Amino acid sequence: MNDDHQNSPDVVAAPAAGPVRIGLLGCGVVGSAVARVLLEQGSALQNRAGAPVELAAVAVRDPQKPRNVELPSGLVTNDARGVVSDPTIDIVVEVMGGMEPAARLIIEAIRNKKHVVTANKELLASSGSELMAAADAAGVDLLFEASVAGGIPVVRPLKESLAGDRVRRVMGILNGTTNFILTRMSENEESFEIALAEADRLGYTEADPSADLEGHDAAAKLAILSSLAYGAHVVTGDVEREGITKVSVDDVRAAHDMGYEIKLVAVAEEVDGMVSARVHPAMLPKTHPLAAVRNEFNAVFVETDHAGELMFYGRGAGGGPTASAIVGDIMEAARSVSGAFQGPAYHHYDEKAAIRAPGEAAVRYYIVLSVLDRPGVLASVAATFADSNVSIASVRQEGHGQAATLTLITHTATEAQHQETFSRLEHLDVVDRIESQMRVLGTDEV
Ligand SMILES: NC(=O)c1ccc[n+]([C@@H]2O[C@H](COP(=O)([O-])OP(=O)(O)OC[C@H]3O[C@@H](n4cnc5c(N)ncnc54)[C@H](OP(=O)(O)O)[C@@H]3O)[C@@H](O)[C@H]2O)c1
Repeated sequence: MNDDHQNSPDVVAAPAAGPVRIGLLGCGVVGSAVARVLLEQGSALQNRAGAPVELAAVAVRDPQKPRNVELPSGLVTNDARGVVSDPTIDIVVEVMGGMEPAARLIIEAIRNKKHVVTANKELLASSGSELMAAADAAGVDLLFEASVAGGIPVVRPLKESLAGDRVRRVMGILNGTTNFILTRMSENEESFEIALAEADRLGYTEADPSADLEGHDAAAKLAILSSLAYGAHVVTGDVEREGITKVSVDDVRAAHDMGYEIKLVAVAEEVDGMVSARVHPAMLPKTHPLAAVRNEFNAVFVETDHAGELMFYGRGAGGGPTASAIVGDIMEAARSVSGAFQGPAYHHYDEKAAIRAPGEAAVRYYIVLSVLDRPGVLASVAATFADSNVSIASVRQEGHGQAATLTLITHTATEAQHQETFSRLEHLDVVDRIESQMRVLGTDEV
């Protein structure tokens, strides 16, 4: 906190005496996931916020509509203005989307000295600077981690962790729908139309898919990232934009032949003191980290002077991931309200963590055995694994004559079960020696 704030108590939200009360504007895909986290994880959140966190009101268009979350009675209202002017509400979470009435409600909430959390990229990419100025003037937080790349924490790293570095370039895959379509075209050689139909079938497209396909959605997110990276206001209209509708399977094949993948890439960089921001399909070498981002996933690749290259990867949309980012912002705002500026999660831990014994870890192993080449060897090796309840996922036998090699990969079992198997194998008369053993990670099993 700076001196100005300390000397101006009228512009600082007063520390909460009781619970920190949340007013939610919108209870659709994202809002219902946020409400679920707030209702189900109360005590864990209380530890991190420095005070109990209470869902106090939920404003929607149609209060009679069934919701994806069971809300306590009396919470739902269609009076969003009543929520932003309710003096008992500390934090307003705007997840209704669109420009109006969202903009008006956020401004009103800020004027009423409420911290605001929003996921509204459209609004931030056009009026972010005005909203930020209003929040500064009122001495409240305006937090928007979920507005770019859903559940991937990228706003806070750019705003805080990299504040001491210079960002040279930000490159992102910021739209899951187009990345899904391009992945299908690349991996299945499907036409754009067939891949789009599949995206539609899986629910990845909006009623009007043009915001995704023509790059508008990615451009709005890039405007927000550019503003953060270069500390100056960039709006959607500043972003040069081209979508993916002209990309053909022939382009994809030609790219493969030359060792490239085609992606819809959002790029922002500072050149001669000016910001250049653009969204367009581009060929990336297969070795580039962004080339490996498949399906509906998003990623942001940041190049800086000192930290070098950083990559943030994850799910860019969906109720759960987006709610994760929003509740993270709610925790930050709640710490301001409760006065726990460095919440317990940051500066100390009350309890020692319970550490699991290393032998209990669930692992898979790759094992190479040098064995005698005679009938029955495979059966006795398999029986040794079975004796320790380790099952074999795959096995390959090679070699003839005196010695042969067995290469095995196990299914998931504990470290202790594997170690027990290895010591039995060492004493098995048909096994000459264990040539190699290594844990296998990154499969669906572990
Ligand atoms: N969906 C995602 O994966 C995702 C990811 C990142 C960011 N976002 C952003 O999060 C925001 C919400 O997206 P969403 O997918 O959750 O939208 P959604 O499913 O359409 O939900 C919108 C909610 O806002 C309510 N609402 C709309 N206009 C209203 C008004 N005038 N007064 C009161 N309530 C109103 C709706 O009420 P009713 O239910 O009664 O109609 C609904 O509950 C958007 O800004 C979006 O860009 C979404």
